[in-house]
Amino acid sequence: MNDQAEKLRNIVKNLKENNNSEVNAESKKAARVIAVTSGKGGVGKTNITVNLGIALSKRGLRVVILDVDLGLANIDILLGKSTRYTLVELIRGERNIFEVLADGPDNVKFISGGSGVDELAQLDKSQIDNLVSNIALLDKLCDVILIDTGAGISNSVISFLMAADEVLLVTTPEPTAITDGYAMIKTIIRKDRHKIVKVIVNKADSIREVEDVLDKLFMVSERFLSFELEKMGYILNDECVSKAVKQQKPFSLVYPKSHATYQITQMAATLLHDDSNSDEDNTNVHGKGIRGFFSRLLGSYGI
Ligand SMILES: Nc1ncnc2c1ncn2[C@@H]1O[C@H](COP(=O)(O)OP(=O)(O)OP(=O)(O)O)[C@@H](O)[C@H]1O
Ligand SMILES: [Mg+2]
Repeated sequence: MNDQAEKLRNIVKNLKENNNSEVNAESKKAARVIAVTSGKGGVGKTNITVNLGIALSKRGLRVVILDVDLGLANIDILLGKSTRYTLVELIRGERNIFEVLADGPDNVKFISGGSGVDELAQLDKSQIDNLVSNIALLDKLCDVILIDTGAGISNSVISFLMAADEVLLVTTPEPTAITDGYAMIKTIIRKDRHKIVKVIVNKADSIREVEDVLDKLFMVSERFLSFELEKMGYILNDECVSKAVKQQKPFSLVYPKSHATYQITQMAATLLHDDSNSDEDNTNVHGKGIRGFFSRLLGSYGI
């Protein structure tokens, strides 16, 4: 019992302490909710989410990763850690937000989705109130929430994407990954033409290849959807990534000098620079941050 209380105190303390000047400006706002997705599976979402989280944390942001990739406990495996509780226990009101937050590396916290996403559709009013009040606490305790969604166009993935403030779409140069990525963009903007979609090209063999992929995606989006994508960054094929995966460690921690780490650090800087969660941008009636996110998410389930 004391153990539990101590753990909660430590989590709150850590989240509050990771608070340098860059955060101070950030933390007055609602937390930024960023979903990482892809059309095709296996393109690098989980690696990017975890290492981007670490890079943002190193810049002083308080980061929580929400793993909503159902079925496979991806993040747990990548971090070599297992979580005791998941979103399921939070939704059922059996555990509070602090109890489902697990400690990741470099002060990053994470929450495993478990099958909780499926349960969202079946909540009653009091469960929703409980969930929202727990989640709202995150707004005060973190600056960024990164959501690792599953691949592909399923209803739950789309709900998470539409509820987030911005979407990072990961693709590789493989034609199927590009085509599936494009299909994903199409689905997103059919629902909301104002969504911010930023593209990450992963596992390319050269910068030239990165540019080709971006040209293709940007061109078809503009031409056929009249939609302007944004560039987020790229990571070339880097064996440090697969080597780190085998060690169940984030690549940026075991290979801090690798190309992949340099590029993920650049992406973190880009994200911090163009904080699209600024006051002017966010006019959605549901509001900002994590409260807004859950309000939109539950709305998409007709709740
Ligand atoms: N830049 C890279 N260079 C080399 N290998 C990479 C790179 N990025 C990812 N990989 C490899 O691709 C594999 C899949 O990556 P990851 O698990 O992050 O993809 P994912 O999109 O989350 O997959 P899923 O759709 O199954 O959740 C990793 O195990 C890693 O070995
Ligand atoms: Mg994954």
